[in-house]
Amino acid sequence: MRLKISKPVFYSSLVATTAGFAYLTKYHMGGPNYEGQEDLTDKIIIVTGANSGIGKEVTLELAKRKARVVMACRDMEKCEMIRRNIVLDTKNKYVYCRKCDLASQESIRNFVTQFRKECDKLHILINNAGIMRCPKDHTKEGIEMQLGVNHMGHFLLTNLLLDVLKSSAPSRIVNLTSSAHRTGQINMKDLNWENDYNPGRAYSQSKLAIILFTRELANRLKGTGVTVNAVHPGIVDTNITRHMTVYTNVFTRFFLKPLAWPFIKAPRQGAQTVLYAALDPSLENVSGCYFVNNEESEVSQEAKNDDMAKWLWKVSEKWTKLNIT
Ligand SMILES: NC(=O)c1ccc[n+]([C@@H]2O[C@H](COP(=O)([O-])OP(=O)(O)OC[C@H]3O[C@@H](n4cnc5c(N)ncnc54)[C@H](OP(=O)(O)O)[C@@H]3O)[C@@H](O)[C@H]2O)c1
Repeated sequence: MRLKISKPVFYSSLVATTAGFAYLTKYHMGGPNYEGQEDLTDKIIIVTGANSGIGKEVTLELAKRKARVVMACRDMEKCEMIRRNIVLDTKNKYVYCRKCDLASQESIRNFVTQFRKECDKLHILINNAGIMRCPKDHTKEGIEMQLGVNHMGHFLLTNLLLDVLKSSAPSRIVNLTSSAHRTGQINMKDLNWENDYNPGRAYSQSKLAIILFTRELANRLKGTGVTVNAVHPGIVDTNITRHMTVYTNVFTRFFLKPLAWPFIKAPRQGAQTVLYAALDPSLENVSGCYFVNNEESEVSQEAKNDDMAKWLWKVSEKWTKLNIT
C-alpha cells in the first residue's frame, strides 16, 4: 500500500524537520553551559560594555546570582534602559550604571575615582567592552581606536583597580579576547598604525595584546590571590559587526544570516565561558590561561612571547601615563 502525503503535509514536515535540525545544530555549536549556581550576595563585580551582547548577558546572569554589578558603559541612556530590564527580570536592585568611556583615559580615571568612593571591595573585574574593524579612528589621547579601547583602556582600568582587587582577594579578572589573536602580530615599528591601517589586522593586534597583557599580569600577580584569565567567547551574534558592511548589508541580513544562524552563538551562549572563568570554583588558583568553551585552550606562538609581553607592558604604561597621578 502506498502512503499518500498531501503537499501541505509534506512541506510542513520538511519545514519542521529543517527547523529541528537548525535548533539542534545551534544547541550543539553553542558550547557547554556554565551550570554553577553560586550565591554572589555581597560580591562586587564590574562589567565593561555591559549594555550590549555578551556583556549584557553576563550582567543578567550575575544579577540572577545576587551579585552587586556595576555596568561600566559609555552611553548612559542605553545602559539605564538595559539596567532597568535586568532589575525587573532578576528582582536584584543592586545593579548600577556608571559612565566609563574606554576611548578616554580621563573618563576611565573618573570612573575609578567614583567607584572607590562608592565601594571598598572589588571581587571580579570583567573587561568585556570591545570594538571591531572600525574605520581608522583615535581615542581622545590619539591611540588607534581598537588598540586604545580593547587593550590600552582595559590596561589602565585594571591597573587603577589592582589595589582594591588585591585587598578583596580571592578575586578575579576576566579579559575578553578572540580567536582572531591567532592572526595577530604586534606591529612594534608602528604599533599605532600611523601607516597602512588595516581594520582586520588592527583588531587582531588588539586581541593579541590582551593575551600578552593577561599573561604578564598573571606573573605580576603571583601570590596575591588575584587571578587573571582570557576568554574567547566563540562567534556570537552581537553588535560587534556594526562596522563591517559585509555583515550589515541587506543580502547578508536577510539571506546569509538566517543560513548561518545555526552555526553562530546567541549572546547567552557567548556569555557561558565568561561566567565559567569568573565563577567556577575549580579555577580559584588558575591564572594566565586562555579559555574557549569552558576549557583551557592553547594560544598562538606570538601570544607566548614573554619578551613581547614585557615590551608591550612598558609601552602601555607610557601611553596610559600609569605612573603619573
Ligand atoms: N561577538 C563575537 O563574535 C566575538 C568574538 C570574539 C570576541 N568578542 C569580544 O567580546 C566582547 C564583547 O563584544 P560583543 O560581541 O558583545 O559586542 P557588542 O554587542 O558590540 O558589545 C560591545 C560593548 O562594548 C562597548 N564599547 C565599545 N566601545 C566602547 C568604549 N569606547 N567605551 C566603553 N564601552 C565601549 C559597547 O558599547 P556601545 O553599545 O555604547 O557601543 C558595547 O556595550 C568584545 O571584547 C569582543 O571583541 C566577540
